[in-house]
Amino acid sequence: VLHDDGSIQSVEKAVPQNADAEVIDYGDSLIMPSFVDMHLHAPQYPMLGMGMDLPLIDWLNTYTFKTEARFEDSDYARRIYKKLASDLITSGTTRVCMFSSLHTDATLILMEELEKAGVTGYVGKVNMDRNGSPELQETTEQSKRETLRWLDACGRFKTVKPILTPRFIPSCTDDLMYGLARLQAKYGVPVQSHLSENYSEIAWIRELCPRSKHYGDAYEQFGLFGGGYPCIMAHCVHSDEREREAMREHGVVTAHCAGSNINICSGVAPVRTLLREGNLVTLGSDIAGGALLAMNKVITMSIRASKFRHMQSDGKDEFLTVEEGYYLGSSAGHEYFGGHGGFVPGDYIHAIVVDDSDFTEAAHPLSVRERFERAIYMMHRHNIVSVWSEGKNVVC
Ligand code: GUN
Ligand code: FE
Repeated sequence: VLHDDGSIQSVEKAVPQNADAEVIDYGDSLIMPSFVDMHLHAPQYPMLGMGMDLPLIDWLNTYTFKTEARFEDSDYARRIYKKLASDLITSGTTRVCMFSSLHTDATLILMEELEKAGVTGYVGKVNMDRNGSPELQETTEQSKRETLRWLDACGRFKTVKPILTPRFIPSCTDDLMYGLARLQAKYGVPVQSHLSENYSEIAWIRELCPRSKHYGDAYEQFGLFGGGYPCIMAHCVHSDEREREAMREHGVVTAHCAGSNINICSGVAPVRTLLREGNLVTLGSDIAGGALLAMNKVITMSIRASKFRHMQSDGKDEFLTVEEGYYLGSSAGHEYFGGHGGFVPGDYIHAIVVDDSDFTEAAHPLSVRERFERAIYMMHRHNIVSVWSEGKNVVC
């Protein structure tokens, strides 16, 4: 039962007898908390499934920077971002933590299109003032100035908020990083970046920040590693014990991107270890390192990756169950945004309605648990017949 503003009043087994509210009957469909994609790159949407045989740094230099550079053109940005926003919401993703490109105007267009489609969350104008390409790099001054211009323009959005986004340490000078830390304090905005994704990247950090104890410590020395401000770090494939401990201490959240990590051979992140030690873990599609936008596929990919580690460890590392995978790709993200796992009174509803009649024909009548498992493994966009985001029915 929902209040008029779309927040949840109560969860009932049947329609309350005294209800005078409108009733929407979804028949035998599954009503589930929606998906949350905690790491993806909007301007990489036009390059899904490209350059997948290259390691990270070559992939960035060969394909990614060229693709992102095109978002200097606002008309192009509008066209691609309209499509991305529509594909996200119809795939049941209602909250995101997203990288834009370094272009302020395209970033504002992205935020507009997401808000129009009903996708909520954080979007970041990317900062990069070194090691980019001739067509994709800012000067330090430009980067600071444009970030301010962007932050000042974000006031008009209601459900899409800004997040500071230094691309990763190799892309940002020390001067820029300190500047971003000052903006973090002044505006009280969260931060997102990449952490310990790939061995060559980590070796590069050692050269660039010789005084840091580990990659995370380098962010910390700039004041951009949580500790009072929400901070989300993508990948954490090779985070060692000290780095994982620092993340717990500073409340840094991991966005685990299993598909991307395998596509560009970064590694298989130790999700079970992170969870066992008490680190906060969420999931990201990492479009376009990942090639799958649909979060149910990101969830099953994460489960497969965890099974790989399970087999490699002779069974010592337990794999993710379907319930755990779904929790990470849904509720864990909602919790990051201040909501709760499942449907809890007081939260704005974020839900998908899944018509699973395509695959309820099985050898025996299916339990709800079996229908849930099949839905996570098998659903396509056409099975998602309705989406609710921030209390509103945005796909029906
Ligand atoms: N590290 C820095 N930039 C990127 C990016 O665009 N994708 C991924 N996967 N890693 C990065
Ligand atoms: Fe990424």
